Amino acid sequence: MLTKEQFDKHWKDWADGAPKVDRFLITQDPWELWTFCEFLKDYKTYLEIGGAWGHSIWFAAHAMNANYIATIDLCESHSGPFLASVVSKLNEAICPSLLYTGNSNDLVDSVKEEYEILFIDGKHDYNQVKRDYENYGKKATKAIVFHDFCQPGPHQLLTEIGVDRVWYSNPDNGFGYAVKFK
Ligand SMILES: C[S@@+](CC[C@H](N)C(=O)[O-])C[C@H]1O[C@@H](n2cnc3c(N)ncnc32)[C@H](O)[C@@H]1O
Repeated sequence: MLTKEQFDKHWKDWADGAPKVDRFLITQDPWELWTFCEFLKDYKTYLEIGGAWGHSIWFAAHAMNANYIATIDLCESHSGPFLASVVSKLNEAICPSLLYTGNSNDLVDSVKEEYEILFIDGKHDYNQVKRDYENYGKKATKAIVFHDFCQPGPHQLLTEIGVDRVWYSNPDNGFGYAVKFK
């Protein structure tokens, strides 16, 4: 579990240590991510599709009372090595942590465990978000969280399947979390 003070410290450390991509230092909005941490604190297992630089999985692992966590990512050259190092650190410091490298469409059978929380944040076009939801939603036991739900792809899917809770800091940036409980 993370206090707000610990969150702020992690946020600063992350901003100091994360690779910089163009002018973007970090990939999430702090208020939204803090609210996500608050949401996660009673859960123990977590699978994230689209780990990127590991920003969300790092905070999720610290916020939860984590038993095991995993992420799936294409691990492109700009982000994959950093994500691997984040997962390795979580493995040592927090709980068993797995990185599945490849396209989520090809890894469905490799991901054998169930997870309380599924966080979908890979490619955001409608067809891919829907595929990730259909392929991995059945492995989630408590809730499915969609990131960037203000973007057209996730938004369209969510109008079809319905949501139970949303939060966002600014709809113009396309960010925002939407939760569908099982
Ligand atoms: C928006 S970023 C994720 C940000 C990350 N969840 C975070 O909160 O810091 C999307 C990531 O999904 C990956 N990705 C896109 N399509 C994918 C797919 N079909 N399978 C696996 N990873 C995918 C991209 O390579 C990228 O690293």
